[in-house]
This record gives sequence, structure tokens and C-alpha cells, in this order.
Amino acid sequence: MATTGHLQIGLLFILLSSWGTLGWIPIIFRGRPTGGMVGPPQPSGPGNASVPVELWFDLQIVDHFNAADQRIWSQRYFVNGDMYELGGPIFLMLSGEAEADPAWLQYGAWIEYAKTHNAFLILLEHRFYGKSRPLGDISLESLQFLNSRQALADVAEFIGGEFSIRDKFNLTDNKLIVFGGGYAGSLAAWFRSKYPQFVDGVVASSAPVFAEIDFKEYLAVVSDVMELSSPTCNQNVNEAIVTIWQWWGQPDKREKMFQMFQLCDHIDHDSTIETYAFFNAFAYNFEIIAQYNKVNRILQGVKEQDSKVTLEFLCDIMSDESRGPPIERYAFVNAVVLNLFSKKCLDFKFDKLITDLKRTEWTDPVAEGVRQWLYQSCTEFGWYPSTDWYDHQPFGDFFTMGFNYSCVQCAQVFGYNYFCAAETGAQETNLYYGGFYMQLTRAVFPSGSNDPWHALAFNNTKIPDTVPILIEGNSHCADMYSSTPDDSPQLKNARETINSLIGRWIS
Ligand SMILES: *[C@@H]1O[C@H](CO)[C@@H](O)[C@H](O)[C@H]1NC(C)=O
Ligand SMILES: *[C@@H]1O[C@H](CO)[C@@H](O)[C@H](O)[C@H]1NC(C)=O
Ligand SMILES: *[C@@H]1O[C@H](CO)[C@@H](O)[C@H](O)[C@H]1NC(C)=O
Ligand SMILES: *[C@@H]1O[C@H](CO)[C@@H](O)[C@H](O)[C@H]1NC(C)=O
Repeated sequence: MATTGHLQIGLLFILLSSWGTLGWIPIIFRGRPTGGMVGPPQPSGPGNASVPVELWFDLQIVDHFNAADQRIWSQRYFVNGDMYELGGPIFLMLSGEAEADPAWLQYGAWIEYAKTHNAFLILLEHRFYGKSRPLGDISLESLQFLNSRQALADVAEFIGGEFSIRDKFNLTDNKLIVFGGGYAGSLAAWFRSKYPQFVDGVVASSAPVFAEIDFKEYLAVVSDVMELSSPTCNQNVNEAIVTIWQWWGQPDKREKMFQMFQLCDHIDHDSTIETYAFFNAFAYNFEIIAQYNKVNRILQGVKEQDSKVTLEFLCDIMSDESRGPPIERYAFVNAVVLNLFSKKCLDFKFDKLITDLKRTEWTDPVAEGVRQWLYQSCTEFGWYPSTDWYDHQPFGDFFTMGFNYSCVQCAQVFGYNYFCAAETGAQETNLYYGGFYMQLTRAVFPSGSNDPWHALAFNNTKIPDTVPILIEGNSHCADMYSSTPDDSPQLKNARETINSLIGRWIS
């Protein structure tokens, strides 16, 4: 794998055409797993409608905020009218920071809601993700047109503009409910807030509404859930980290770690930045399991039989003294997660990560969305998971894997002007949308208490008809998936509340 020719690596990836095995991109990067934050629903449970139809909205505008720029492009969407009955509502799901997955038109909780309300289903892909490509590449120049405001204007054009798809499907006067999960959930809420004339209600699942560069709450929530899983989990992880830190400077121990942690490359101990990259990789193993703990979903590339890998499972390993000292137990955790994602070795090299992220063609593996998401996080939102909340996470407080490590990534990939640009970008985002003080009505915000993103969820209970629901024990976007017999009473209640709110909003 460690070939020097970038072209060769690129070709290899095209041949494999498997985004699940991105070269040096971590399994979860800035809270986004490869394939996006909201994994596709499982083909099971009720709600099996016919195969969705792929369509294109051909008159989408490249730059909504510059009348002199007349370029247009084709935005992809999918529809399913099987459950629709005359006069029923439109359910529009916004896709977010990944390719839109048409499985959503067949499965998921909203299918159950659609059956109740005879809805017409539409899934709209986000600009610059999947096959919705406003421009010929994802160079920095092109990415100037990638931001949430342009994306919302796309939605407005699509549903309310001169060539609205309402006419195409004879849905001129039908009510509209907008859905989204994660970042797309934020978009759904922002759409209601900014374009209320087009929307009758919003279901914004696990939506972070507050932009901040230093997302230190992320690992704090991960740590809280680890604590609940096993009281000694955090302590054992911390002991493993301390040992790694001690071993870092010792040549023989570095060689041992190379074997133990199945590293793809040897550690370059002279590189400071590599320390950050390595310790980040350590935290990723817990982040990805925490964010999707026990959700009835299959992350891209994860085999169904591996759904036993929960945070409890990892914490049990960390507490199992028969496996030797904590560093050995951590090595086993690492092996379990590598296996889960079918990785042969642990990629942690900073330079290789940056080289990959700098690629700008639609055929490059990073075009699955990780580069675009990096750009959005570097410019609009921040949301850099950091260890800056020192006494509230076990992943190290004696070195600085602070949020500025993420700033360095932005600068390396996009240029020096992008170093910590998200500091200003996040402020502007909150000024524009309102952050925790966003104004909107007719919105429900389900989130899971175990989801690291819930720390940024809308929590204002004083606005009429705007309903935050914190679902105890649940992970990212759990409410969006088809119900199963294992669902907690809280999750069942949340779905019932959502369905009845929808009923009220479309009546
Ligand atoms: C479910 O959907 C699949 C694929 O669209 C189809 O082949 C199958 O017949 C459907 N099953 C039922 C019970 O509707
Ligand atoms: C279009 O919808 C209207 C009511 O919304 C209905 O009266 C009409 O029959 C529909 N036309 C078609 C072709 O379905
Ligand atoms: C991040 O900031 C800390 C404290 O301000 C500093 O010590 C460290 O060198 C910075 N790291 C990077 C990578 O810039
Ligand atoms: C909402 O959450 C934020 C961040 O945790 C907190 O600062 C704020 O006080 C909360 N607001 C309400 C109304 O609970």
C-alpha cells in the first residue's frame, strides 16, 4: 500500500471502487464516519415500498447569491409515491454530508409515519455530495460554493422556486414536512427558520444547532457513556494512554507498539504532529462505537454479526485483567475495531492523511464526502472533537490534542488562511441561524443522551410548538430507523410523539 505514486493509489482505489477502505482517512473524522453520519436503514421491518426512482432537478443554481452568475447544474433526488393518496403531505428528507441513500425511500421510521399520513416521499441529495455535483471538481475554488446557505437555497428552489417539483408531481398545495438527521437535521431546522413559508413542520434528528470550533463536549459525552458501561473504563483507558506516552520515547517500545497496535507504518518519533495523529486514532476507536452504540443500523462496511460490538463490549475488554495490563487490553480493543471495519492495519500517518485530503477530483476516494465535510467544518461549523475538557475525558491531558490540531489540518489541506478560520466561521454561523436561540416553530428535535452530538442539540423549551426530546440511552439518529422489538419505551414514545406532531402540523 505504501506506494509513492499518487496516481497509482488513485487508480487502485477506482478499481476497488470501495469507499469503505479509504487509504489514510480515519474510520471517523470530525464526528463523521466514512459514508456519512447517518448510516442507511436496514432492509428489514415494516415499510417495504417499491424501488425508488432516481431523478434530476435540472435547473438548480450554482450561486444563489450572485445574480450575475447564471451557471446551473443538476441536483439528484429520489421519490416514492407508493404511499401517497390525493391530498396527503409531502415528506422531504434532506440528505447531508454524504451520498444520498435511496434505501431511505423503502425503510426507516418515516415510512411508518408516511403510511399513517399517506405521504409522498422525496429524498434530496446535498450539493457537492454523491452525484449532486455543481462543478467539475472539488478543488478549493469549487468548494467556495459549498455551504449550508447555498444548500438551503437549493431546497427553496427545489420546493418553492419557479420550477418547483411540486408542479411535476401535481403536489401544488400539499403540506410539507422536512426531515433530516445529524447535519441534515440542522439543515431541516434552519430551513424552517429561514424559509418558513415553504414548510409546515420539521423533524430534526440529532441535529447540532450550535457551531463551535472547540467541540470538547464530544469526548466528555463519550466518557460519560463509558463510565455508565463500566465504572473503571475511563481509568483503564487513561492508564493505557499513560503507558503509550511513556513508551513513545523508547525505541524498543515503539517497535513493540508497531506490532501490538497493528500499525500500517512505523512511528516517526521526531514528528510532533504524528503524536497527535496517533492519539487521535486511539480516541476514534471509542468515538465511532459511542456515536452509534446499539443503534439498529449497519454502518457502511460493518457486518451485521458484529453488532455485538458496543461500548459495553469495549469497556468489558478494558476491565478484563486476564488480558494483561491496560495497554494490552487497549491493543485488543484496537484489533476488534480494525476487524469491524475490515482494516488490515491502523492508519495514523498525518502526512498521508493530508496528502489524501488534498485530492480534488470527483474520482478520488475522498470525494465520498470526507474532503467536503472537512471544508465545511473548517469554514462554517468547527465541531473539532478535542481533549480540551481536561478532567472530563480519559484520552489524555498531559499533551495537547487541542482543537488547534484540527486547525493545523485545515491549514495543511486548504492553505494557511484556513488555520482556525472556523473560529470566525462558527461565530458567523451562529449569528446567522441563531444557535441555541434559533427562532422557529413546529419543529421536533429528537436526540439521544448517549450521542456525543446531543450536547449541541436545540434545547429551548420556551418556544410554542417546538419540542426538544432527549431520548435516554439512545445514540445518533436512533429515532430515524425502523422500529424493532428491542426499542426502549423512551424511543417508542419519541416516535409516537413525532408522528402525532406531524399529524397536527399537516391538519
Ligand atoms: C420488498 O422490496 C423488494 C425490493 O424492492 C422486493 O423485491 C420485494 O418483493 C418486496 N417485498 C414485499 C413483501 O413487498
Ligand atoms: C391533481 O391534484 C388535484 C388536487 O390536488 C386533483 O383534483 C387532480 O385530479 C390531480 N390531477 C392529477 C392528474 O392527478
Ligand atoms: C495548540 O495550542 C497549545 C496551547 O495554546 C500549544 O501549546 C500547542 O503548541 C498548539 N498546537 C499546535 C499544533 O499548534
Ligand atoms: C442549552 O444547552 C447549552 C449548551 O449545553 C447551554 O449552555 C444552555 O444553557 C442550554 N439552554 C437551555 C434553555 O437549557
